Amino acid sequence: MFRLREFALPDYDAVYALWQNAGDGLGIGRSDTREEIAKKLQRDPDLFLVAENDDKIIGTVIGGYDGRRGLIYHLAVEEACRQRGIGKMLMDEVERRMMAKGCLRAYLLVKRGNDDVIEFYRRLGWEAMDITILAKSL
Ligand SMILES: CC(C)(COP(=O)(O)OP(=O)(O)OC[C@H]1O[C@@H](n2cnc3c(N)ncnc32)[C@H](O)[C@@H]1OP(=O)(O)O)[C@@H](O)C(=O)NCCC(=O)NCCS
Repeated sequence: MFRLREFALPDYDAVYALWQNAGDGLGIGRSDTREEIAKKLQRDPDLFLVAENDDKIIGTVIGGYDGRRGLIYHLAVEEACRQRGIGKMLMDEVERRMMAKGCLRAYLLVKRGNDDVIEFYRRLGWEAMDITILAKSL
């Protein structure tokens, strides 16, 4: 039986393994340790969703809302379960939840070389922006 639910810390190992197997499009970094994910759960825990099939985690998405913009991170569906609408369901639900919080506009980052996924997002109404993202590790 397939369902979406909110992530909880006991899911961490399964979710981390899914991210590790998700391919180069999903970058795992210092924000993905158990401690950092625990920090994330102190804010918007209802925007970190997992998809489950018979109690096995097969998909994730992390949303964030800072009061002005939304951000989407770590959308991933286990390879064997792709092309069955699970990625779209995760995105629809996280978008719906962000909207319900008052979020008017959201961003997500696609790594160069992961261009295939842009068509997936386009179908969900996302548009590429002509912009350069700058980042700084603090
Ligand atoms: C991106 C990803 C989550 C999509 O998940 P999915 O469950 O296969 O997607 P869905 O089945 O919900 O697809 C929804 C629609 O997008 C289309 N689609 C999915 N992947 C696509 C792709 N790579 N290229 C073009 N279209 C695609 C589907 O055909 C479907 O179209 P339809 O509604 O007309 O039938 C999955 O490919 C993945 O985990 N990729 C690796 C991790 C990654 O790179 N994440 C993105 C980080 S920015």
